[in-house]
Amino acid sequence: MSHDKLYVFDTTLRDGEQSPGASMTKEEKVRIAKALDRMKVDIIEAGFPAASKGDFDAVQAVARTCKYSTVAGLARAKESDIDRAGEAVKDAPKSRVHTFIGTSPIHMQAKLKMEPDAVLECAVAAVQRARQWTDDVEFSCEDAGRSEADFLCRIIEAAIDAGARTVNIPDTVGYNVPEQYGGLIRSLRERVPNSDKAVWSVHCHDDLGMAVANSLAGVQNGARQVECTINGLGERAGNASLEEIVMAVRTRRDVFPCDTDIETTEILPTSRLVANITGFHVQPNKAIVGANAFAHESGIHQDGVLKARETYEIMKAQDVGWNNNRMVMGKHSGRNAFRSKLEELGITFETAGELDDVFARFKDLADKKHEIFDEDLQALVTEAYTEEVNERYQLKRLHVCCESDVVPEASIALLIDGEEKQAKATGDGPVDAAFKAIESLVESGAELRLYSVNSITGGTDAQGEVTVRLLQGDRVVNGQAADTDIVIASAKSYVNALNKLSQQGFREHPQIAAADL
Ligand code: KIV
Ligand code: ZN
Repeated sequence: MSHDKLYVFDTTLRDGEQSPGASMTKEEKVRIAKALDRMKVDIIEAGFPAASKGDFDAVQAVARTCKYSTVAGLARAKESDIDRAGEAVKDAPKSRVHTFIGTSPIHMQAKLKMEPDAVLECAVAAVQRARQWTDDVEFSCEDAGRSEADFLCRIIEAAIDAGARTVNIPDTVGYNVPEQYGGLIRSLRERVPNSDKAVWSVHCHDDLGMAVANSLAGVQNGARQVECTINGLGERAGNASLEEIVMAVRTRRDVFPCDTDIETTEILPTSRLVANITGFHVQPNKAIVGANAFAHESGIHQDGVLKARETYEIMKAQDVGWNNNRMVMGKHSGRNAFRSKLEELGITFETAGELDDVFARFKDLADKKHEIFDEDLQALVTEAYTEEVNERYQLKRLHVCCESDVVPEASIALLIDGEEKQAKATGDGPVDAAFKAIESLVESGAELRLYSVNSITGGTDAQGEVTVRLLQGDRVVNGQAADTDIVIASAKSYVNALNKLSQQGFREHPQIAAADL
């Protein structure tokens, strides 16, 4: 079977970021974009530049970073949105403007309050405007999965005539089933007269757990671009997961007449990076990247795998990044070895001072922990980056006392704008007591929306990676920190979230910002 190229369009930084609580800073987006670029993702959708200045800046920073991937900016079918997106991506070596408009009866009537002919005119004008910025223009029919096929044919034909080179058919609300969605792609390709002038793209949400199955049904019916996210991150139940789609077409080349150029060994490190930055950790039984995805527990399976791996495994764990680069730095590792290890992980620093800072943190960790794995290094760098954000608050000391049948108590010393302040509080556990002591000094009034602890690697000396999500007004931030002591990691993570909340010019969540436009 001959194999076409299947383009991978990653929207972790845009649709993925629309997961409530997953908003990322500019620096975090750039780190993820570097990992996606290294993985050879064809197109990275970096954000929605018209949403806010912060979003614009983040997309522009990604555009200036990527070497391999095309960088796309999303825009509603409005001149001002398109110009913001065009401006934000124009410094990328390869840029794309992605414009969309709702095409289903419910979107046109209730949201846009527009007649179908006016929607079509708007789409054509948007594509033409976007072509003034770049030849690479994508047009999406939002809620295509619930749109009327005749109208889709008309608007897609007009968008292609106006210069769209990719047409995307989103199942925006995750309503379709595979046979229906695959049939939709096939019939549109057959009915739209100029369908051969564009790449057909699928974009599926996971509300009924069918995003990957629907995307693959689209691919079997002629789509040659898949829109997806790392770990399936995304709005509500998420988007189709990149790693599952890529490995499905790679593993079943007998079924799919296409393949991607993805560097699959980068999948696991990138999955870990996204989880680490967003605080959305993957469940152990998640395909490809879950901790148990390649683990064999039952004796019969273990015996089979030892005799011949293929008895119970259809992919090699190493091919998606498991066990590659596992090892290992330790207290005797020098600065050069440390720097080249980070470079292997795609982490570089602009100044020697930044490297020195992370190296000092590494040495501290090496004193507490015997072996330091790639995941520990990623967490260390995340912490160094997040502390750079704004150091209004710093944890100076923490003392907690907990004993059975005694109410836990925490004493805390914080530097607030450089001045040391101290407080004590009790709580129903050591973490609760530490948070209450911090809050009594800072008085943020923020509501704790998520507290999660994840063990970065195995073993009792593993670092605990803590995510704290705080809500203040309509702002949601994630604080992260890692430490071999999880109470300290928790307090540092809480302080990190408070620092993010105290930032001036904070980047509002793109959807909240866009709702005000
Ligand atoms: O789900 C959707 O319809 C989208 C579009 C903006 C492409 O994310
Ligand atoms: Zn979407």
